[in-house]
Amino acid sequence: MSYPDESQIHQLILLLLRNPDKFTSHERLTEDLNISIEILAQWVDSLKDQGLEVEFHPQLGCRLGGAPDLLLPELIKPQLQTVTFGKIIRYFLQVGSTNDVSHQLAQQGADEGTLVLAEDQSQGRGRLGRSWFSKRNAGIYASLILRPNLKPRDAPILNLVAAVAASEAIERSCGLKMDIKWPNDLLVNGKKCCGILAEMDADLNAIHYVILGIGINVNQSCFPKMLQGQASSLFLEGGQKYSRVKVLVEFLKSFEALYMELQSKGSHEVITRWIQNSSYALGRKVSVDLGGRQIHGTTAGLGKEGTLRVQLENGQIEEVVSGEVVAWR
Ligand code: BTN
Repeated sequence: MSYPDESQIHQLILLLLRNPDKFTSHERLTEDLNISIEILAQWVDSLKDQGLEVEFHPQLGCRLGGAPDLLLPELIKPQLQTVTFGKIIRYFLQVGSTNDVSHQLAQQGADEGTLVLAEDQSQGRGRLGRSWFSKRNAGIYASLILRPNLKPRDAPILNLVAAVAASEAIERSCGLKMDIKWPNDLLVNGKKCCGILAEMDADLNAIHYVILGIGINVNQSCFPKMLQGQASSLFLEGGQKYSRVKVLVEFLKSFEALYMELQSKGSHEVITRWIQNSSYALGRKVSVDLGGRQIHGTTAGLGKEGTLRVQLENGQIEEVVSGEVVAWR
């Protein structure tokens, strides 16, 4: 049995995509890939294992069943409307975590805006040491390498930039009303459909780089038991499948614009749009876990660094820099 590697699978998909809905002859495929017909049949089986619909006809050749909604750079790039973000894409069928791959690339000097994408993550990571459910070909698992001109203490605002960008991008591309729970959980009908994990490499005075990881539950049709009731997907909430490429392209467009605005003009626009997009910003009764200590109060907007302002029962305002909103009314 011959198992193709990632780049061979990628090549085969691209050849089949040249003739969507039509058969590509075995001669053409075996010649272009420099393999025998027996090996081609095995590679087609590997595509099927990847969850793709592909037909191997003994006489006519091979064809894809419908246009696959894969996050292939070749499908994304023609639609990109950004200047730098997503111009360099590292695409994987499977990785441990796109954030981990991005750390390695950033340490090797990868440019700002480099995008790491995977169809599947075996060790997807979430905030606060949790794992991120990463069902193959169903969600968007993406990480961007950033080299922002910010002080390390100002970096948490990037969580809010990403949340606003994702919220607006999903509303535009899917027509779903999103809500943002501080700092960066995106909810539809009260259930989490998108999470953001920003990780920084810095010394006391300067940021070396930030990895901005985003997971969007787009077309998942079910979730593990322990996530049921809390997590959902755009498909489950909107009642239809959505194009992951379209959602991602819209996110990159919004994120790049807001990130540039943040660096040139400061955080005013981000904070304003975060408040507009969140029902949590003002007047919500919340309990916040500060990692050992819990506070209870009413939300009173955001500080200019993106902190959550909570008015306590004694009237004092507490500025939450890091913590988790665990309950709200
Ligand atoms: C959260 O807990 O809300 C954050 C989830 C972030 C998940 C994404 S998926 C792509 C990137 N790679 C990871 O391992 N995590 C982030």
